[in-house]
Amino acid sequence: MATKLWGGRFAEKTAKEVDEFNASISFDYKLWPYDIEGSLAHVKMLARQKIISQKDSSSIQKGLKSIAQDIAQGRFEWKTDQEDVHLNIEAELIDRIGPVGGKLHTARSRNDQVALDARLYCRSQAKIILKELNNFQRVLVQLAEENIEVILPGYTHLQRAQPILLAHHLLAYVEMAARDSERICDALKRIEILPLGAGALAGTTFPIDRHFVAKELGFSRVSNNSLDSVSDRDFMIELLSACALILTHLSRLSEELILWSSFEFFFVALPDNFCTGSSMMPQKKNPDIPELIRGKTGRVFGNLMGLLTVMKGLPLAYNKDMQEDKEGLFDSVETTQTCLRIMTLMLQKTKFRAEVMKKATQEGFVLATDLADYLVTKGIPFRDAHHIVGQAVLYCQTKNKTLEDLSLEELQKMSKAIEQDVFSWLNIENAVNRRKSFGGTAKSEVKKQISQIKKRL
Ligand code: ARG
Repeated sequence: MATKLWGGRFAEKTAKEVDEFNASISFDYKLWPYDIEGSLAHVKMLARQKIISQKDSSSIQKGLKSIAQDIAQGRFEWKTDQEDVHLNIEAELIDRIGPVGGKLHTARSRNDQVALDARLYCRSQAKIILKELNNFQRVLVQLAEENIEVILPGYTHLQRAQPILLAHHLLAYVEMAARDSERICDALKRIEILPLGAGALAGTTFPIDRHFVAKELGFSRVSNNSLDSVSDRDFMIELLSACALILTHLSRLSEELILWSSFEFFFVALPDNFCTGSSMMPQKKNPDIPELIRGKTGRVFGNLMGLLTVMKGLPLAYNKDMQEDKEGLFDSVETTQTCLRIMTLMLQKTKFRAEVMKKATQEGFVLATDLADYLVTKGIPFRDAHHIVGQAVLYCQTKNKTLEDLSLEELQKMSKAIEQDVFSWLNIENAVNRRKSFGGTAKSEVKKQISQIKKRL
C-alpha cells in the first residue's frame, strides 16, 4: 500500500524530504509489541460494544497476530513513507485482510494510541529496571557479607575521617538502589493509567468502554480528561527522572571504583575481563567500564532535560513536537538497564584489598574522634576534648607519629584525664564496633542491616 492512510485531503504527494523528516519509524518500531497489544484490546472492545461485528473483530485480531508473528521473526519491512509504527501496522493490516482492516481505527486516534503504546512500553521497561535494581542490591549485600571483617577509612572531603566497615560502605549503595526502586514503583502508579478512548483530543461519539480496555491491558485506572490524556508525558518524565537518579548513583559508585583501583588507593582489583589495555603503554589496565557508566550518566541527564524542554511550551493537546519524546526515552531506559546489568556483573568479580584498606586506617589520624570521645567519657566537655586532640595531632605530626604510637606519658601531657584504658579506644576494630548507634558502622549494626535487607529483597 503506497498511499497515505490520511491521504484523502491532499492533492499532492508528500515530498520525499518531508517523508524522511516527518517519519519516526526508524526508532518507534520498538513500540510494535505494545501497539499490537493495545490494538487487540481496542478491537475486542469495539465488538463487545457492538461498534463493529464479532466477525470483523476476529479477522482484525487474526491479522494483527499474523503481523506480530512476522515482525517478531524479522520478516516485516518497515516503510518510511508510512511514517510511524502505528500507520505501518495499520496499512499492513488492510493489505492483508482487506478494507475490514480499516475498522480497527474506529473511535481511536494516533494521539491516544501513541500515548497508550508509550505507557505500555514504560510499564514493561520499568519492570525490567526493578529486576535489575534487585540484582544489583543482591550482589552488594553478598559482597558486604563476604567482606564483613574488612575495615577501611571512611572519607569526607576525600580526606580520611573515621574507620568504617567496607560492608557499611557497600550497603550505602543498597539504600540508594532501594530508593530508586521506590521511585520506579511510584512512577508505575502513574504510568498504568489508560489514555485510550481520548480520541484525537475530545473523546469519541462511539459508545466505547474504556474500563474494559483498561482491564484487558491490566491498567488500574482510566484517565479522566481526554485533552490531558493525549497531552501528558509526565509519566515519561518521571521515569526518565528516576533513571537519571539511578545513573547518578551508579556514577558515584563508578567514580569510587575508578579511584580505588588506582595505584594511589589500590583498594580494589577490578576483574581483568572488565578492563581494557592501552595501545601504547603496556602496563595499563584501565577501568573503562565504570568510566563509561559515569560518562553515560550525562546522556541520561540530557534526555530528561530534553523532554522537559520539549514539553514546556506546548499548547494543548497533541503536537508533533511530542514525537521527539521517544529516542531519549528509549535511550535512557536501555542505558539504565545496561549500566545496572554491567555494574552488577563487574561487582560480582571485584576483589577488595583488605590489607591495603587496613593500612590506610593506620595513617591519617582516623581515631582522633575516638580519642576525643574517650576524653568526654572522663568528664571533659566535647569542645575541650576536640581542642586537646587537635593539639595531639599537631604534636604527632612534628614527631612523625600516629595517635596509636603515643605512650601513656605523652598522652597524659595532653590531658591528665587520660589513663591506661585509652588504648582500647585507640584501636581501629574497637572504634568501628563502638559505633552502635542505629544505622552506624559497628559490625553488630551492619549485620542487622544485612539481615533486614535480605528479608526485603
Ligand atoms: N508518530 C507520532 C508520535 O510519535 C504518533 C502520533 C501522531 N499523531 C498525529 N496527529 N500526527 O507522536
